[in-house]
Amino acid sequence: MASRLLVARSMAALGRALTPLRKNGKKIALVPTMGALHAGHLALVRAAQRRGDHVIVSIFVNPTQFAPNEDFASYPRTFERDRDALASLGVKVIWAPTAALMYPSGFATRVVPEGAATAGLEDRFRPQFFAGVATVVTKLFTQCRPDFALFGEKDYQQLKVVTRLARDLDLGVKVVAMTTKREKDGLALSSRNVYLSAEERAAAPVLYRTLKDCAAKIGAGRGIGAVLADGRRAIERAGFVLDYLEARHAETLAPVASGKDVPIRLLVAGRIGKTRLIDNIGV
Ligand code: PAF
Repeated sequence: MASRLLVARSMAALGRALTPLRKNGKKIALVPTMGALHAGHLALVRAAQRRGDHVIVSIFVNPTQFAPNEDFASYPRTFERDRDALASLGVKVIWAPTAALMYPSGFATRVVPEGAATAGLEDRFRPQFFAGVATVVTKLFTQCRPDFALFGEKDYQQLKVVTRLARDLDLGVKVVAMTTKREKDGLALSSRNVYLSAEERAAAPVLYRTLKDCAAKIGAGRGIGAVLADGRRAIERAGFVLDYLEARHAETLAPVASGKDVPIRLLVAGRIGKTRLIDNIGV
Protein backbone atom coordinates (compact mmCIF):
# COMPACT_ATOMS: atom_id res chain seq x y z
CA MET A 1 0.00 0.00 0.00
CA ALA A 2 2.61 2.54 1.16
CA SER A 3 4.79 2.05 -1.94
CA ARG A 4 1.93 3.15 -4.22
CA LEU A 5 1.78 6.63 -2.70
CA LEU A 6 3.57 9.17 -4.88
CA VAL A 7 4.92 12.40 -3.43
CA ALA A 8 4.99 15.00 -6.21
CA ARG A 9 7.13 18.08 -5.63
CA SER A 10 7.24 19.53 -9.15
CA MET A 11 4.57 20.30 -11.75
CA ALA A 12 6.10 17.66 -14.03
CA ALA A 13 5.88 15.02 -11.29
CA LEU A 14 2.31 16.08 -10.49
CA GLY A 15 1.36 15.74 -14.17
CA ARG A 16 2.94 12.28 -14.35
CA ALA A 17 1.10 11.21 -11.19
CA LEU A 18 -2.31 12.58 -12.21
CA THR A 19 -2.53 11.66 -15.91
CA PRO A 20 -3.06 7.92 -15.32
CA LEU A 21 -5.51 8.61 -12.48
CA ARG A 22 -7.74 10.66 -14.78
CA LYS A 23 -8.07 7.93 -17.40
CA ASN A 24 -11.61 6.74 -18.32
CA GLY A 25 -13.23 9.82 -16.78
CA LYS A 26 -12.16 8.94 -13.25
CA LYS A 27 -12.92 11.68 -10.72
CA ILE A 28 -10.24 13.30 -8.58
CA ALA A 29 -10.93 14.64 -5.10
CA LEU A 30 -8.46 17.04 -3.48
CA VAL A 31 -7.98 17.61 0.24
CA PRO A 32 -5.92 20.79 0.64
CA THR A 33 -3.95 20.86 3.91
CA MET A 34 -0.98 22.47 5.57
CA GLY A 35 0.07 19.08 6.97
CA ALA A 36 0.27 18.27 10.71
CA LEU A 37 -2.62 15.97 9.90
CA HIS A 38 -5.08 15.01 12.63
CA ALA A 39 -8.19 12.86 12.72
CA GLY A 40 -10.21 15.72 11.20
CA HIS A 41 -8.00 15.75 8.10
CA LEU A 42 -8.17 11.96 7.86
CA ALA A 43 -11.98 12.15 8.01
CA LEU A 44 -11.81 14.61 5.08
CA VAL A 45 -9.68 12.08 3.20
CA ARG A 46 -12.19 9.30 3.85
CA ALA A 47 -15.03 11.55 2.70
CA ALA A 48 -12.97 12.42 -0.39
CA GLN A 49 -12.56 8.71 -1.11
CA ARG A 50 -16.33 8.33 -1.06
CA ARG A 51 -16.70 11.23 -3.56
CA GLY A 52 -13.87 10.64 -5.98
CA ASP A 53 -12.17 7.66 -7.58
CA HIS A 54 -8.77 8.96 -6.47
CA VAL A 55 -7.71 11.31 -3.70
CA ILE A 56 -4.87 13.82 -3.77
CA VAL A 57 -3.81 15.51 -0.54
CA SER A 58 -1.83 18.71 -0.83
CA ILE A 59 0.57 19.56 1.95
CA PHE A 60 1.88 23.10 1.83
CA VAL A 61 2.35 25.49 4.73
CA ASN A 62 1.35 28.60 2.85
CA PRO A 63 3.47 31.58 3.91
CA THR A 64 1.17 34.19 2.36
CA GLN A 65 -1.73 33.49 4.72
CA PHE A 66 0.36 34.18 7.83
CA ALA A 67 1.06 37.70 9.08
CA PRO A 68 4.65 38.43 10.19
CA ASN A 69 3.61 38.14 13.87
CA GLU A 70 1.89 34.76 13.36
CA ASP A 71 3.12 31.19 13.69
CA PHE A 72 4.42 30.37 10.19
CA ALA A 73 7.91 29.44 11.47
CA SER A 74 6.62 27.32 14.35
CA TYR A 75 3.62 25.79 12.56
CA PRO A 76 3.91 22.01 13.16
CA ARG A 77 5.57 20.19 10.25
CA THR A 78 5.22 16.40 10.46
CA PHE A 79 5.68 15.29 6.86
CA GLU A 80 6.84 11.68 7.46
CA ARG A 81 4.01 11.00 9.89
CA ASP A 82 1.49 12.62 7.52
CA ARG A 83 2.78 10.57 4.58
CA ASP A 84 2.48 7.30 6.54
CA ALA A 85 -1.05 8.12 7.67
CA LEU A 86 -2.10 8.93 4.09
CA ALA A 87 -0.41 5.81 2.72
CA SER A 88 -2.31 3.66 5.18
CA LEU A 89 -5.59 5.21 3.95
CA GLY A 90 -4.72 4.37 0.34
CA VAL A 91 -4.15 7.95 -0.87
CA LYS A 92 -2.44 7.88 -4.27
CA VAL A 93 -0.75 11.26 -4.49
CA ILE A 94 0.60 13.87 -2.10
CA TRP A 95 1.14 17.23 -3.76
CA ALA A 96 3.91 18.84 -1.73
CA PRO A 97 5.18 21.83 -3.71
CA THR A 98 8.03 23.95 -2.45
CA ALA A 99 7.56 27.62 -1.59
CA ALA A 100 9.81 28.48 -4.55
CA LEU A 101 7.48 26.59 -6.90
CA MET A 102 4.36 28.23 -5.49
CA TYR A 103 5.85 31.71 -5.22
CA PRO A 104 8.80 31.95 -7.59
CA SER A 105 10.93 35.05 -7.67
CA GLY A 106 8.92 37.84 -9.33
CA PHE A 107 5.54 36.38 -8.29
CA ALA A 108 3.16 39.34 -8.49
CA THR A 109 -0.44 38.09 -8.55
CA ARG A 110 -2.89 37.81 -5.68
CA VAL A 111 -6.49 36.66 -5.57
CA VAL A 112 -8.28 39.07 -3.23
CA PRO A 113 -11.73 37.77 -2.32
CA GLU A 114 -14.65 39.96 -1.29
CA GLY A 115 -18.07 38.95 0.06
CA ALA A 116 -17.68 36.49 2.93
CA ALA A 117 -13.96 37.32 3.09
CA THR A 118 -14.80 40.83 4.29
CA ALA A 119 -17.49 39.86 6.81
CA GLY A 120 -15.55 41.36 9.73
CA LEU A 121 -14.74 38.04 11.41
CA GLU A 122 -11.34 36.41 10.77
CA ASP A 123 -10.51 39.19 8.29
CA ARG A 124 -10.73 41.76 11.11
CA PHE A 125 -7.97 40.01 13.07
CA ARG A 126 -6.01 38.47 10.18
CA PRO A 127 -6.27 41.05 7.38
CA GLN A 128 -3.84 39.18 5.11
CA PHE A 129 -5.40 35.77 5.63
CA PHE A 130 -8.05 35.40 2.94
CA ALA A 131 -5.98 36.82 0.08
CA GLY A 132 -3.29 34.31 1.06
CA VAL A 133 -5.79 31.45 1.23
CA ALA A 134 -7.59 32.46 -1.98
CA THR A 135 -4.33 32.79 -3.90
CA VAL A 136 -2.95 29.44 -2.78
CA VAL A 137 -6.27 27.60 -3.17
CA THR A 138 -6.66 28.99 -6.70
CA LYS A 139 -3.18 27.72 -7.49
CA LEU A 140 -3.85 24.31 -5.92
CA PHE A 141 -7.11 23.99 -7.89
CA THR A 142 -5.49 24.95 -11.19
CA GLN A 143 -2.48 22.71 -10.56
CA CYS A 144 -4.46 19.62 -9.51
CA ARG A 145 -7.69 20.31 -11.45
CA PRO A 146 -9.78 18.23 -9.04
CA ASP A 147 -13.45 17.45 -9.56
CA PHE A 148 -14.12 17.87 -5.83
CA ALA A 149 -12.27 19.60 -3.00
CA LEU A 150 -13.05 18.95 0.64
CA PHE A 151 -12.87 21.57 3.37
CA GLY A 152 -13.75 21.34 7.05
CA GLU A 153 -16.47 23.49 8.58
CA LYS A 154 -14.19 24.44 11.46
CA ASP A 155 -12.77 27.19 9.23
CA TYR A 156 -16.29 28.27 8.34
CA GLN A 157 -15.49 31.66 6.83
CA GLN A 158 -12.71 30.05 4.77
CA LEU A 159 -15.19 27.42 3.56
CA LYS A 160 -17.56 30.15 2.35
CA VAL A 161 -14.72 32.05 0.69
CA VAL A 162 -13.35 29.06 -1.25
CA THR A 163 -16.84 27.88 -2.25
CA ARG A 164 -17.53 31.30 -3.80
CA LEU A 165 -14.05 31.50 -5.30
CA ALA A 166 -14.42 28.17 -7.12
CA ARG A 167 -17.73 29.35 -8.60
CA ASP A 168 -16.68 32.89 -9.43
CA LEU A 169 -13.51 31.83 -11.24
CA ASP A 170 -15.15 28.84 -13.00
CA LEU A 171 -12.52 26.52 -11.62
CA GLY A 172 -14.62 23.43 -12.37
CA VAL A 173 -14.33 22.08 -8.85
CA LYS A 174 -17.18 21.39 -6.45
CA VAL A 175 -16.30 22.41 -2.91
CA VAL A 176 -17.65 19.92 -0.39
CA ALA A 177 -18.02 20.80 3.30
CA MET A 178 -17.38 18.36 6.13
CA THR A 179 -18.58 18.73 9.70
CA THR A 180 -15.99 19.53 12.35
CA LYS A 181 -14.32 16.62 14.15
CA ARG A 182 -14.10 17.07 17.90
CA GLU A 183 -12.37 15.65 20.93
CA LYS A 184 -14.68 13.88 23.39
CA ASP A 185 -14.97 17.09 25.43
CA GLY A 186 -16.02 19.07 22.35
CA LEU A 187 -12.77 20.84 21.47
CA ALA A 188 -12.56 21.12 17.68
CA LEU A 189 -9.58 19.23 16.24
CA SER A 190 -6.93 21.64 15.01
CA SER A 191 -3.25 21.37 14.16
CA ARG A 192 -2.74 24.27 16.58
CA ASN A 193 -4.10 22.33 19.59
CA VAL A 194 -0.56 20.99 20.11
CA TYR A 195 0.44 24.48 21.29
CA LEU A 196 -1.90 24.28 24.32
CA SER A 197 -0.46 23.72 27.81
CA ALA A 198 -2.30 21.20 30.00
CA GLU A 199 -4.11 24.03 31.76
CA GLU A 200 -5.08 25.74 28.50
CA ARG A 201 -6.21 22.42 27.03
CA ALA A 202 -8.48 21.90 30.04
CA ALA A 203 -10.04 25.36 29.53
CA ALA A 204 -10.36 25.20 25.73
CA PRO A 205 -13.67 23.22 25.50
CA VAL A 206 -15.44 26.31 26.85
CA LEU A 207 -15.61 27.54 23.25
CA TYR A 208 -17.79 24.69 22.03
CA ARG A 209 -19.73 24.48 25.29
CA THR A 210 -20.62 28.15 24.97
CA LEU A 211 -21.49 27.86 21.29
CA LYS A 212 -23.86 24.98 22.06
CA ASP A 213 -25.41 26.84 24.96
CA CYS A 214 -25.90 30.03 22.92
CA ALA A 215 -27.30 28.08 19.94
CA ALA A 216 -29.84 26.34 22.18
CA LYS A 217 -30.96 29.63 23.76
CA ILE A 218 -31.23 31.50 20.45
CA GLY A 219 -33.04 28.50 18.96
CA ALA A 220 -35.50 28.70 21.87
CA GLY A 221 -36.24 32.34 21.04
CA ARG A 222 -34.04 34.23 23.54
CA GLY A 223 -32.63 37.59 22.37
CA ILE A 224 -29.36 37.21 20.43
CA GLY A 225 -27.66 40.25 22.01
CA ALA A 226 -28.14 39.11 25.61
CA VAL A 227 -27.30 35.48 24.87
CA LEU A 228 -24.03 36.41 23.15
CA ALA A 229 -23.10 38.87 25.92
CA ASP A 230 -23.44 36.02 28.48
CA GLY A 231 -21.48 33.73 26.15
CA ARG A 232 -18.63 36.24 25.81
CA ARG A 233 -18.38 36.56 29.58
CA ALA A 234 -18.26 32.77 30.03
CA ILE A 235 -15.44 32.43 27.51
CA GLU A 236 -13.44 35.27 29.03
CA ARG A 237 -13.92 33.87 32.55
CA ALA A 238 -12.30 30.62 31.35
CA GLY A 239 -9.13 32.55 30.44
CA PHE A 240 -9.62 33.46 26.77
CA VAL A 241 -8.95 36.84 25.24
CA LEU A 242 -11.93 36.91 22.91
CA ASP A 243 -11.66 38.21 19.35
CA TYR A 244 -15.33 37.68 18.58
CA LEU A 245 -18.43 35.66 19.37
CA GLU A 246 -21.00 36.57 16.76
CA ALA A 247 -24.22 35.44 15.16
CA ARG A 248 -24.19 35.64 11.37
CA HIS A 249 -26.30 34.53 8.46
CA ALA A 250 -24.97 31.05 7.73
CA GLU A 251 -24.60 31.66 3.99
CA THR A 252 -23.70 35.33 3.56
CA LEU A 253 -22.06 35.83 6.99
CA ALA A 254 -23.94 39.13 7.23
CA PRO A 255 -24.81 40.20 10.81
CA VAL A 256 -28.23 39.00 11.98
CA ALA A 257 -30.53 41.09 14.11
CA SER A 258 -32.97 38.45 15.30
CA GLY A 259 -33.39 34.71 15.61
CA LYS A 260 -35.72 34.92 12.63
CA ASP A 261 -32.87 35.79 10.19
CA VAL A 262 -32.29 32.11 9.46
CA PRO A 263 -30.14 30.13 8.90
CA ILE A 264 -27.84 31.39 11.65
CA ARG A 265 -24.26 30.39 12.39
CA LEU A 266 -22.49 31.35 15.58
CA LEU A 267 -18.76 31.92 15.16
CA VAL A 268 -16.10 32.37 17.81
CA ALA A 269 -12.38 33.13 17.91
CA GLY A 270 -10.14 33.81 20.86
CA ARG A 271 -6.66 33.40 22.26
CA ILE A 272 -5.66 31.39 25.26
CA GLY A 273 -2.01 31.87 26.14
CA LYS A 274 -0.24 32.02 22.77
CA THR A 275 -2.78 29.90 20.92
CA ARG A 276 -5.59 31.28 18.82
CA LEU A 277 -8.58 28.95 18.40
CA ILE A 278 -11.72 29.27 16.29
CA ASP A 279 -14.97 27.34 16.18
CA ASN A 280 -18.59 27.66 15.04
CA ILE A 281 -21.99 26.02 15.22
CA GLY A 282 -25.31 26.16 13.40
CA VAL A 283 -28.38 27.35 15.31
O1 PAF B 1 -7.26 25.24 6.04
C1 PAF B 1 -6.06 25.11 5.70
O2 PAF B 1 -5.38 24.18 6.11
C2 PAF B 1 -5.44 26.14 4.78
O3 PAF B 1 -5.96 27.41 5.00
C3 PAF B 1 -5.52 25.75 3.29
C4 PAF B 1 -6.97 25.70 2.82
C5 PAF B 1 -4.87 24.40 3.05
C6 PAF B 1 -4.81 26.79 2.43
O4 PAF B 1 -3.47 26.90 2.76
